[in-house]
Amino acid sequence: MKTATNLIYRGDCHSVLKRNFPENCVNLIYMDPPFSFNPKYAKLWYDKETLQMFEEIRKGSVKHYTAWISKRIEQAHRVLKNTGSIYLHCDWKFGHYIKVEMDNIFGKNNFQDEIIWHYSVGGKSQKRWGRKHDTIFFYTKSKKWTFNKKHAKVEPRKTGSKSFGGRIGTDENGRPYQDKIAKSGKIYRYYLDEGRIHDVWEIQPIQSQDKKRTGYFTQKPDELLERIIKVSSNPKDIVLDLMCGCGTTLAVSHSLRRQWIGIDISSQACEVIKQRMEGLEGINKVEIRGLPLTIKDLKKLGGFEFEDYICDMTNSVKTKHTSDKGIDGYHLGETPLQIKQQERVGRKVVDEFETALRRKNKNHGNIIAFSFTKGAYEETARARDDGLDIELIKMSELIKADYDLETLLE
Ligand SMILES: C[S@@+](CC[C@H](N)C(=O)[O-])C[C@H]1O[C@@H](n2cnc3c(N)ncnc32)[C@H](O)[C@@H]1O
Repeated sequence: MKTATNLIYRGDCHSVLKRNFPENCVNLIYMDPPFSFNPKYAKLWYDKETLQMFEEIRKGSVKHYTAWISKRIEQAHRVLKNTGSIYLHCDWKFGHYIKVEMDNIFGKNNFQDEIIWHYSVGGKSQKRWGRKHDTIFFYTKSKKWTFNKKHAKVEPRKTGSKSFGGRIGTDENGRPYQDKIAKSGKIYRYYLDEGRIHDVWEIQPIQSQDKKRTGYFTQKPDELLERIIKVSSNPKDIVLDLMCGCGTTLAVSHSLRRQWIGIDISSQACEVIKQRMEGLEGINKVEIRGLPLTIKDLKKLGGFEFEDYICDMTNSVKTKHTSDKGIDGYHLGETPLQIKQQERVGRKVVDEFETALRRKNKNHGNIIAFSFTKGAYEETARARDDGLDIELIKMSELIKADYDLETLLE
């Protein structure tokens, strides 16, 4: 089965893949997951499981992270072609846990390599070793996969006089070589002016002056993705990035004549990618599927449609019962939510919401609207003195939320 290509999906890669992608449809996957977030707004965007996971990470535990990443790796495995490859980018803190999940899902025998991306930037420490590498796990789905050896070579061999067990010589064309003799007596000839293939890649991170720099905090260098894409796919193949940030994988795939698909939960990231891709030769307009609406669009929605939309975007469950009077939904199924498609929501609305909270024996709730009056803020301060914690959230903040969230991602 085929999938649409050369487009961006905004959303959680787990649900995007589940809803839109058939099995065995992409040739290569790159995945560069986040390991932290800005708690201020994340509570509105992420589901309970994700929030719990990041909170635990903050406290030093990874128990739920493995379950979270595992669900997304399972989807990656499902959509990858049987002859496909996946590269999962990790840091030194999380790699070990992720490796176990990858082994469980892809099979230990399909683990092909652990690539070390070595760079020289980053701080020095007086108390421990300088941290100068990321880890990239390379897995395949079966025993058959694409590996374009000629693009995998990273640097010419040293042409010194030491043979290290082989026989050094020069052929009739003047090319230096080394012959190695196998136990069987067979001679293998390696040309010393050819690059070597190995799994320690020395590539510098994107420089501050680089014209390709997008300003996205976690942007990876083109060279890194070029190597992966050239070696593990062919022109016209489909390359998928599940958490594509500012779209490095997509831009490089396009320049190498691959088809590409990017997914990111951040609408800000999707906008950066769109601009980046539309600036490339041969691309006119890029479609983003699943982007949240603008304030202008939200004002035009019908009342129920607006409530549905807000409940959906904030992981809230809409109320169905008349006993829930004054409460439109429950954030994460628990915290009461009042949704107003209005500007300048005032004291009266806050006051009524207080009554609704008391009736439900709740001491915390959120009101979402386009803006609030001074009186509304004064009323929430008064309610706080009475033990009720009411948060007033402006739509503009909500829309901007994932921007704040993502710029702080490490
Ligand atoms: C480390 S960054 C990726 C950087 C990217 N490789 C680049 O070169 O720009 C991680 C990205 O994952 C996205 N993200 C976090 N959770 C996600 C999810 N559940 N589904 C899709 N994207 C997600 C974040 O918005 C962020 O842009």
